[in-house]
Amino acid sequence: MKLLVTGGAGYIGSVVTRMLLDAGHEVVVLDDLSTGHAEALAPEATFVQARVHDAAQVLTADAGFDAVLHLAALISAGESMVRPELYWDNNTVGSLALINAARSAGVRRFVFSSTAAVYGNPTELPIPETAGKTPTSTYGATKLAVDMALTSESTAYKLASVSLRYFNVAGAYLRNGVALGERHDPESHLIPIALEVAAGRRAKLQMMGVDYPTVDGTCVRDYIHVEDLARAHLLALEAAVPGEHRIYNLGNGNGFSNQQVVDVIREVTGHPVPVEPAPRREGDPAVLVASATRAHTELGWTPAKPALHEMVGDAWAFYRSQIIGEPAA
Ligand SMILES: NC(=O)c1ccc[n+]([C@@H]2O[C@H](COP(=O)([O-])OP(=O)(O)OC[C@H]3O[C@@H](n4cnc5c(N)ncnc54)[C@H](O)[C@@H]3O)[C@@H](O)[C@H]2O)c1
Repeated sequence: MKLLVTGGAGYIGSVVTRMLLDAGHEVVVLDDLSTGHAEALAPEATFVQARVHDAAQVLTADAGFDAVLHLAALISAGESMVRPELYWDNNTVGSLALINAARSAGVRRFVFSSTAAVYGNPTELPIPETAGKTPTSTYGATKLAVDMALTSESTAYKLASVSLRYFNVAGAYLRNGVALGERHDPESHLIPIALEVAAGRRAKLQMMGVDYPTVDGTCVRDYIHVEDLARAHLLALEAAVPGEHRIYNLGNGNGFSNQQVVDVIREVTGHPVPVEPAPRREGDPAVLVASATRAHTELGWTPAKPALHEMVGDAWAFYRSQIIGEPAA
């Protein structure tokens, strides 16, 4: 298939692009490099530096795209609470422009990066796709709006669309000399921040909230390896059905508290990770754990790397390759 991947210079988009190319697809990456990295772009993909708002310039009727995989977004739930207008414009207005462009160009399939953040404080655990959706962050709300737009689009125009609701993504792609991993600036995710502390590049880890109603007071999250996540995109492309908007949670169904994650990082790296208690981050639910039963049964998707140790090990190898220059793959 000829595919447009938005956000292909980012953490997850670069791995998705790599795996689509390996499966024999033709890929055009559209990314404005606002948070992405030119070094993460696959050399075999065509790169267009542009905002998703301007996707119509690429998604023309005669360009012959079969599908769009839309990963481009601003992703910090914390920042979305203080700069909500950036998130509504980038994540929602930009996505609506992309959906319009896809319709005009006659693109029949659309895979969207949604998020566990659409659920807010879960009404049931593990969280099924049918659970109540009351996002506690603007980030989650901007993504839920796009999910709803895709439902309308599929109903009205027979688009075959899939929303993949990722839980916490971790690990790195390390194969054949290619190293693709997480590099956000500023970093807001626990594992890469804790690795910086383990590497001595940051003095301590601020534990955002130690009074949640959980096993040790810290937030509980469900982690998924980025390679497993990327593989789900290939399955979703194949499974998309005209006139249907399918929604799949992608997680392991196991929760780890932030404190437990730090313990694994200490074990894997062999370094101390000093922790300092800090106030809760606004918009953070206490527990997010996925039920991915639907993805298992309908997509035939099963995580190949469900162990947190393996995710942290790969993230650590990637981190060392970036900072210390050790070969990672
Ligand atoms: N990382 C996670 O744990 C996680 C969890 C749930 C959902 N997601 C979703 O996965 C997707 C990818 O996340 P990531 O961690 O790879 O983030 P990232 O910041 O590494 O990548 C996002 C990419 O999108 C690009 N981008 C942003 N806005 C754009 C715009 N308007 N036009 C063109 N390009 C734009 C950036 O330059 C970047 O390359 C996002 O949609 C995010 O909401 C991520």
